[in-house]
Amino acid sequence: MVSRVIPVDPFDLVIFGSTGDLAQRKILPALFRRFCAGQWPGDVQIIGAARAEYDREAFRQIVSESLLIHAPDQSQDAAALEAFLRRVDYVSLDALSSVGWDQLAAKLTVDRVRAFYFSVGPRLFGPLAERIKAHDLATGKTRIVVEKPFGHDLESARALNATLAEHFQEGQIYRIDHYLGKETVQNLMAVRFGNMLFEPLWNSQYVDHIQITVAESVGIDGREEYYERAGAMRDMVQNHLMQLLCLIAMEPPAKFDPDAVRDEKLKVIRALDPVEPHHIVRGQFEGDGPSYRQTVGNPRSTTESYVALKAHVSNWRWAGTPFYLRTGKRLVARSSVINVMFKDAPHSIFGADAGRHANVLSIRLQPNEGITLKVTIKEPGPGGMRLVEVPLDMSFAEALGPENQNPPDAYERLVMDVIRGNQTLFMRGDEVEAAWAWTDPIIAGWEARGDVPKPYESGSTGPGDAELLMKRDGRRWQGINP
Ligand code: BG6
Repeated sequence: MVSRVIPVDPFDLVIFGSTGDLAQRKILPALFRRFCAGQWPGDVQIIGAARAEYDREAFRQIVSESLLIHAPDQSQDAAALEAFLRRVDYVSLDALSSVGWDQLAAKLTVDRVRAFYFSVGPRLFGPLAERIKAHDLATGKTRIVVEKPFGHDLESARALNATLAEHFQEGQIYRIDHYLGKETVQNLMAVRFGNMLFEPLWNSQYVDHIQITVAESVGIDGREEYYERAGAMRDMVQNHLMQLLCLIAMEPPAKFDPDAVRDEKLKVIRALDPVEPHHIVRGQFEGDGPSYRQTVGNPRSTTESYVALKAHVSNWRWAGTPFYLRTGKRLVARSSVINVMFKDAPHSIFGADAGRHANVLSIRLQPNEGITLKVTIKEPGPGGMRLVEVPLDMSFAEALGPENQNPPDAYERLVMDVIRGNQTLFMRGDEVEAAWAWTDPIIAGWEARGDVPKPYESGSTGPGDAELLMKRDGRRWQGINP
């Protein structure tokens, strides 16, 4: 049995942008929770680095306040909080000059894993990589972690990859897509490759189509500037939804090892057909509360806060089985679900009146992580043969106990994987480039057509045209349920 908590060796982790939102809301709370779980030894250094001129105590105070909010359960334990904060240090440093770098160098420990987390905008990735090299801070055990967005298009992603490659080997670069760290996303692989039941049916002969929905009830408050330049396609589809599609569509890798998994994912992206313009629906929220345009302060904005599209993976396994993807902000509920919609049984021996129900395998990523398989049974009772659909429902929390009620946050796994040196759940440079190569022409197409997103009501399931996208094919989206 593989152990639940595999302790890692002592490490130094430097977080650039450590006073920012991501570091305070996600990275530091994830480290604290892993510390409380006993995953890392006491002899660890977490060094916050940012331009602000704090001393160590002032930074610890900021971290402590963030942990009280973002890791409320663990921070009840005052002794644990205190012990964690003792490992936290700070240097004030400038990515664009040599200010602070000698001080950082003086704090680092010789001969142990040294991770540099770039929790900053992509324009600083290059300068940070250069400084790390110039100040001789990179050792054989050095890793760098970069956040999304990894580029704005293929050209900028290539340029970023080239800059990082000047200073680091691919095996040292950890590109984060936090969806890969989510428990149920990893479970997708377990379900597919750990069971005999599904894999023989996992192809166009038996699967009618696949729906991938990542619906959010939140808007874009606080991120208007970034979002207005990105839109749902760049913010969600190019990375998170694409990764989900890859995990659903890929061939079984020979091993659960970084390159075996990433090679298979890359093949899926490269097998994606260009998307036809009439297979894309873009939307923008309005109605109840400020509209998208009011939120970004641009009455003529044509940035989409919603996308639905139909994609085809042109390979032996999937030819003829469409993948419908949709994601949007300010929708009716927060709900991320993958629905694998199986075909009807080829012939009903019970006659047309009995009713026919195709099987659906639903993999719920969030909330209420779990898996449901809808099967057809006879409705109990006398009379004729009436068929009904019932769910075989497995909520992870119910099946595996209350400790699985709140699965660990994606960042907990991902940060520990960086320290362990396991790149399986991180994107390789060629994968990111292939994803942009597929996305760019879609965006260029609607820009050239002067396409304007369709309005949809905040709190709805998205624009009506997204329903039509399905209806035209004689299909329907499954509901968006919390
Ligand atoms: C981020 C996007 O990558 O993922 C956000 O930039 C989005 O716009 C977020 O809200 C969704 O993540 P999660 O984990 O809340 O589903």
